[in-house]
Amino acid sequence: MTTKLNMQDIVNLAKNRWFVYAGSEIYWGLANAWDYGPYGSLLKENIKNLWLKEFVQKKTNMVSLDAAILMNPQTWVASGHVWGFSDPLIDDKKTNQRFRADKLLEDLIENLDDAENYLKEKYWVNNLVPESWSLEIQTKVMRDENVLNPETGEPWDWTEAKQFNLMFRTSQWVTDDSSSTIYLRPETAQGIFVDFPNILRTSRKKIPFGVAQVGKAFRNEITPGNFIFRTREFEQMEIEYFVEPWKDLEAHAEWKNNCMNFLTNTLGIEKENLKLRDHEQDELSHYSNATTDIEYKYPFGWGELWGIADRTDFDLKAHMAESKQDMSYFDPVTNRKYIPYVIEPSVWLTRLLLATMLDAYTIDEENNRTYLKFEPRVAPIKVWVLPVVKKIGDLAKEIFSQLSEDFMCEYDEVGSIGKRYARMDEIWVPFCVTVDSSNYDEGNVTVRHRDSMEQEIVKISELNEWLRERLK
Ligand code: GAP
Repeated sequence: MTTKLNMQDIVNLAKNRWFVYAGSEIYWGLANAWDYGPYGSLLKENIKNLWLKEFVQKKTNMVSLDAAILMNPQTWVASGHVWGFSDPLIDDKKTNQRFRADKLLEDLIENLDDAENYLKEKYWVNNLVPESWSLEIQTKVMRDENVLNPETGEPWDWTEAKQFNLMFRTSQWVTDDSSSTIYLRPETAQGIFVDFPNILRTSRKKIPFGVAQVGKAFRNEITPGNFIFRTREFEQMEIEYFVEPWKDLEAHAEWKNNCMNFLTNTLGIEKENLKLRDHEQDELSHYSNATTDIEYKYPFGWGELWGIADRTDFDLKAHMAESKQDMSYFDPVTNRKYIPYVIEPSVWLTRLLLATMLDAYTIDEENNRTYLKFEPRVAPIKVWVLPVVKKIGDLAKEIFSQLSEDFMCEYDEVGSIGKRYARMDEIWVPFCVTVDSSNYDEGNVTVRHRDSMEQEIVKISELNEWLRERLK
């Protein structure tokens, strides 16, 4: 049995097996909008629930939140998004195509011999992080180094690079003047910071404690792509973990472990496909003291999966200054009052879903089949119920009703048993319950194990408990 990673294969499989496909397809789609189909939506829900279970349900010092997507625009002034949440954009005047200048420059650096010395001597840049260079230098390097249009492979006619704000704007009222401008949130985090005083008052939590939130966020990415890796609309799962200011680095290290363990132990992602990458000093966001990315080995190379940032007290202080509300914490034991520091493990649910699918993608050369080898707890459908022959469908439907109280099941009576098993294997349903009348009369059904393909007789009265034990 071998595993191969290929982006186009996963795109095809996701489409054909009801996981993810282009949104509004009957109107030729909308660039980079994706819909999560019957299995994709369940898979997304499972990953989200496992995350909530691990980081909220199983912790005594974590709570959850669901803040509004639309927030008072002052939020984004205080957080720095109005002035600072942008990427360097460059247009090719010949084709009117837009690109992220820093990304094209990163590609250039990869292909230069001794890039560090060459760029330092020629352009006086002191690092290999183009995002941190001035716009003038980015434009100059693009032009002087003859960076080609990556889409056409043709010589360029580059405009000056300029900053492009990634927030989606909309307006709240019928009139369309600037006073009505509001934004679709580009991250869920700010909802947690803004609600910090309320959460503190109502939850009676003591520091250290954290707030977890799952929700939609939007970014007007200049170059989205790689299927669902970089999209303009996505679901974010964020935790803000508040700590004493002098304990931030300790907590940061702890969260790196927590997130890694979740990926490997809960989602079953292979360790060798994951690595930790600490951000260089000049790569850190304006609010960060330390940031580590957990990277995944995507078919197109290593890329970010989960960011774990030490955001210091930047956000709470910024909102305190802007709103004039007190954001401090009073420690009743030490009688100290301070603004907590915060550790932020932030991951995009949709990107996590992509990594989970890529990791589960398996080619079984021996049996000439391809399937998604999910952990049972992750699998979108847990049990597949089928009558041996169609005419005992009513009995099998009774079993379906009993099991669907506890598990996501599918009922299937179409085609030969072999074909139905094959359909079930494709999406890697962990258990298959086969109903035949002689077994049923004795109060039993046959359960087929996906992995070993072995079959076992199980009592109908004990079936739910039997499965629960094995799906933990
Ligand atoms: N609140 C912090 C924050 O939003 P970020 O580094 O911008 O931080 C965190 O994003 C995570 O979100 C990344 O690790 C990555 O998983 C994911 N991500 C960022 N932009 C994305 C996009 N356009 N599409 C999908 N996932 C994205």
